[in-house]
Amino acid sequence: MGGLGGTTSLSPVWLWIPAFIAVIVAVSVASAELQRFDHPSVKADVSLSFLVIGDWGRKGTYNQSQVSFQMGRVADKLNIDFVVSTGDNFYDDGLTGINDPAFQYSFSDIYTANSLQKQWYNVLGNHDYRGDVEAQLNPILQNIDHRWFCQRSFIVHTEIAEFFFVDTTPFVDKYFLKPKDHKYDWRGVLPRKKYLSNLLKDLETALRDSTAKWKIVVGHHPVRSIGHHGDTKELLTHLLPILEANNVDMYMNGHDHCLEHISSTSSQIQFLTSGGGSKAWKGDVDKSGGYGVKFYYDGQGFMSVELDQMNAKVVYYDVFGNVLHVVNLSKGVKYAI
Ligand SMILES: *[C@@H]1O[C@H](CO)[C@@H](O)[C@H](O)[C@H]1NC(C)=O
Ligand SMILES: *[C@@H]1O[C@H](CO)[C@@H](O)[C@H](O)[C@H]1NC(C)=O
Repeated sequence: MGGLGGTTSLSPVWLWIPAFIAVIVAVSVASAELQRFDHPSVKADVSLSFLVIGDWGRKGTYNQSQVSFQMGRVADKLNIDFVVSTGDNFYDDGLTGINDPAFQYSFSDIYTANSLQKQWYNVLGNHDYRGDVEAQLNPILQNIDHRWFCQRSFIVHTEIAEFFFVDTTPFVDKYFLKPKDHKYDWRGVLPRKKYLSNLLKDLETALRDSTAKWKIVVGHHPVRSIGHHGDTKELLTHLLPILEANNVDMYMNGHDHCLEHISSTSSQIQFLTSGGGSKAWKGDVDKSGGYGVKFYYDGQGFMSVELDQMNAKVVYYDVFGNVLHVVNLSKGVKYAI
C-alpha cells in the first residue's frame, strides 16, 4: 500500500478544492516505488486534453503574460483537464521559501483565466534547485493556490494515458562538478548515485508494468534538442534506453527556451520541447546538429495535447495564438508524420 502517503499529505487541501478541480487521489501500486496519483476523467469519452508550458516564472515579463493569455484561450476551446509544467517554475533562483511572494507574482497572478483553474502538475528545473527546493514540494502551497502540485518524480494515471514525471536535474554532471557561483539545494538527492539508480529502477519498473494506451514521460531537461543547451548526454545514456525499451510515445521537456519537435530514428518516441513560457529568442540554434528535427521555433509559446484511444494531436502556438506546428500520432498504424 505504498501510495497512501500522498492521500494523507494532500487531504487537508480537499476542503479548498472547488468541485471543478479533479481531486488527486493516490492509488497504491505494489510494483513501483514511484508514487502514483489518479486523475479521474471528466469527459464521457475519456478523451484528455492538456497544455504544456515550461521555463516561465518571471513575474509576467518576457511575454510570460502574453503566453498566459493565449493559453487561456486555447484551454477554454479544448476544455483542458490539466496543465503540465516542464520546470524552471521560478526565476532566477527558485523560491526562497513557502512565503516567497514570487509564487503569487509569477504563478497565481499570471495564469488567471478561468480555463486555467485546473490542476497544474509541475516538475523541478535546474533553476528551481537554486532556491529552497523543498518549498516548491511543500503541499502547503496548495493553501495559497489549490492548482499547485509538485513532486520530484511521480506518476499521474488517467483512463487512457500514464504520465511519468522525472526529476532530471540531478542527472546533469555539471551542476555538481562546475556549479559556478550557483548554490544548489541538494537536500533529498544525496547520495546522488543512489538517488539516480533508485529513480531509474523505479521508472523502469513502472513503465514496464504500465498498461496505459499512451505512455508520456515529462522532465525538465531535453533528451534531444538542437537549441542552446542541446542534447542532455546523461539522459541519452541513462534515460533514453529505458524509454525506448518500454514503448514510450512522447518525451516532453523544457530547459531550452524554445518550441521544438524531434522524432527518433530508432523508436516511436517523439521528443517535444515546450520551454517558451517567458524568456526566449536565444538565437543559437544548432542548424547542423539534428537528425529527425521536424520543427524548431526560437520564440515564446506553448503546446496543447489532445488524446483519445486512437489518436494524439499536439499543437504548438506562438505568443499571438498562431498555430506553428501540428503533430498527429495514431495507434494501430505506423506513425506517419
Ligand atoms: C514578445 O513576443 C514578440 C512576438 O514574438 C517578440 O517580437 C518580442 O521580441 C518578444 N519580447 C521579448 C521580451 O522576448
Ligand atoms: C492532423 O489531423 C487533422 C485531423 O485531425 C488534420 O486536419 C490535419 O491536417 C493533420 N495535420 C497534419 C500535419 O498531418
